[in-house]
Amino acid sequence: AGYWTYDPGFKVTAPVESEITYIDGDKGELLHRGYPIDQLAENAEYLEVCYALLHGDLPNAEQKEDFYKKVREHTGVHDQLRKFFEGFRRDAHPMAIMVGVVGALSAFYHDNLDVTDEKQREITAIRLISKMPTIAAMSYKYTKGEPFMYPRNDFSYAENFLYMMFATPADTDYKVDPVLVRAMDKIFTLHADHEQNASTSTVRLTASTGANPYACIAAGIVALWGPSHGGANEAVLQMLDEIGTVENVDEFMEKVKRKEVKLMGFGHRVYKNFDPRAKVMKETCDEVLGALGINDPKLELAMKLEKIALEDEYFVKRNLYPNVDFYSGIILKAIGIPTSMFTVIFALARTSGWISHLLEMHSAPFKIGRPRQLYTGETKRDFVKVEDRK
Ligand code: CMC
Repeated sequence: AGYWTYDPGFKVTAPVESEITYIDGDKGELLHRGYPIDQLAENAEYLEVCYALLHGDLPNAEQKEDFYKKVREHTGVHDQLRKFFEGFRRDAHPMAIMVGVVGALSAFYHDNLDVTDEKQREITAIRLISKMPTIAAMSYKYTKGEPFMYPRNDFSYAENFLYMMFATPADTDYKVDPVLVRAMDKIFTLHADHEQNASTSTVRLTASTGANPYACIAAGIVALWGPSHGGANEAVLQMLDEIGTVENVDEFMEKVKRKEVKLMGFGHRVYKNFDPRAKVMKETCDEVLGALGINDPKLELAMKLEKIALEDEYFVKRNLYPNVDFYSGIILKAIGIPTSMFTVIFALARTSGWISHLLEMHSAPFKIGRPRQLYTGETKRDFVKVEDRK
């Protein structure tokens, strides 16, 4: 035993001070730099939100132009980096490829970040935000066995991403539907940051050792991958596939209540009320499906699950509400994104949050993250030679 606090899962521990994002879990409120998430999702572009996360406020017109220009300048990846993709099997999960390739950026930008140099701080953030859509789309193209598409710097951030995903060398005139571009951009905004979640805490912890910032982002991608965190968006669609039709919902819910499975896309460590991102996501889902004229039975299934869960005692008693991942998969599917890319898109968007937190931490004196433990093993005993061991 020690004098420290035992807090498994860090339920009541705040190891950092931060000015970036505020969450009131009881009210279901999420603010980035003071701005409510629904206002940002409705009115701002993702890159403006990135700027705000990094710099403390939304950019004015001049700052916006300058920031966008810089992001456009860094969308390409080094030719040598392209070779990394070829080392993977075609059936690799794109998240596995992302972990490797983003980690490999540390070999291209290997100088340790001089945290006192504003220019180095900025270029690190810009490079990451610029290159993530390129690397994400390349991961997809590789698993499909299709050639990589070079970024189109005359396109917006979301449009360029969708272009690199879906255009082919035979169809470079490929036009991305503006409804889908707007929806994609909103999805990026809704995932941009969420204070000290598991992946952001991982990025902070790794960065607290002074490790290369690109490698720290790779660590964040790993932490995000699990189904309790960013992997939930993929798991929601798998769950909907498994349930199949509305008739099977009641039986599925019984399994959830017997704790045999979880209702994926529900529940949150901090929100004990509606996740405000889920609200915007649901509206966006209706807009996109409406605009595309899609009648997706998965949406009907999801709405039925949500309705039952919001009224059922099991969920009510535990304050379980839909989270950001509940409806995002249905929109992503409507956009044409395959399920295996859902968490990659989360990672792409969360990169702005990760790097903002890393830079915030490095902008003031900080300590290496080093928790303690409650030791529950053997007490001190003498060494036993192998021939004397039982
Ligand atoms: N389905 C069924 N029961 C649940 C669920 C769920 N989705 N989530 C929590 N519970 C139950 C849990 O079994 C526990 O019951 P009891 O009090 O009887 O032991 C109670 O609710 C409290 O849950 P907890 O596991 O103590 O809560 P936590 O804060 O440790 O976990 C969570 C939060 C998000 C990991 C969890 O709710 C979960 O696994 N949800 C499903 C996965 C998911 O949708 N994750 C995405 C989270 S939001 C986006 C992101 O972070 O990436």
